[in-house]
Amino acid sequence: MALQALLYGRGRLSILDQLQLPHRRHYRPVDGVSAAWTDIAAMRVRGAPAIAIVGCLSLAVELHHREDMDKEALASFALESLDYLVTARPTAVNMARAAQDLTQFIQLEVKRPDSTADDFKENVICRIEAMLEKDISDNRSIGSHGAQHILSTATTDKVTILTHCNTGSLATAGYGTALGVIRSLWALGRLEHVYCTETRPYNQGARLTAYELTYEQIPATLITDSMAAVAMKEKHITAVVVGADRIAANGDTANKVGTYQLAIVALHHHIPFYVAAPSQSCDLSLDSGHHIPVEERPANELTHVNGVHVAAPGVGVWNPAFDITPHSLITGAIITEFGVHHPQDLQEVLTGKKQHIS
Ligand code: MRU
Repeated sequence: MALQALLYGRGRLSILDQLQLPHRRHYRPVDGVSAAWTDIAAMRVRGAPAIAIVGCLSLAVELHHREDMDKEALASFALESLDYLVTARPTAVNMARAAQDLTQFIQLEVKRPDSTADDFKENVICRIEAMLEKDISDNRSIGSHGAQHILSTATTDKVTILTHCNTGSLATAGYGTALGVIRSLWALGRLEHVYCTETRPYNQGARLTAYELTYEQIPATLITDSMAAVAMKEKHITAVVVGADRIAANGDTANKVGTYQLAIVALHHHIPFYVAAPSQSCDLSLDSGHHIPVEERPANELTHVNGVHVAAPGVGVWNPAFDITPHSLITGAIITEFGVHHPQDLQEVLTGKKQHIS
């Protein structure tokens, strides 16, 4: 059975506590919006698509259990909850975009003259539940477009991919984005090997990607972030494929800190650099990455490893969770559910003015 970041049934949600992986597989109940906010902020669930899905499903769960409220009160509660959920983690845009979509939907639903409070609840919950299916099918499309494109440009029968952070089943509703591309290559029998970075400071690569890859028995090797340059020099890497937390209109991409340096090193070694993400991760309201807010995380995520203080006490700490890779360094392409795009064409492709590459 594939790994699942969350388990959902009408009125019930639990998340796989990612802070306990890889040692313990524990699903933790999420009884509503406030619990989801806390779990997202603490990174018990993380990854841009999973943050949005868990946030919205927590609202669905709470709406399901709200009795004796009229339609207007339910709508105000839902709108306030969405505003609150957006504040849990500021860089990933998926929750904000989902909140925008749901806000519009709720504002229309609440005005429907013939609908009851129960109709309102049902329609909002169904709208949220549809996100689960859509995320998985988008990820499968991303995986297939990315794999086909990488294979069409590769000079070897089998390819070797380097990836960063965690972009797999644990970061999405299922299958994954950059890890979805890797999964697709593996399913086609065309994947030689994966190198995954440890992803300091919080080790999503070592804890989560390594776990997913070994779980699926995909041949993989863990490296520290500081080994990326020598790996690109010596390990016959075909392409670097990463995910995204927010992509600006010009293709500049916010992703886990360390992505930017990987793109620079890939350029030096003439290795194509790809970003794989659903269109929901694109923020066309920002013309460049300069405007993307970068979350700063607590110092202890850097000074401590598994609760053990490894840094000299008293030292100052800077812990930005993400960095911005300029579009000029995305030398491969941006891969979305619609196809494979040059970063500079993203806006026109997403607004239907231009075709994708493949
Ligand atoms: O801080 P995290 O673990 O939420 O960061 C996750 C990433 O940077 C991922 O690459 C990104 O969210 C894409 S997940 C499909």
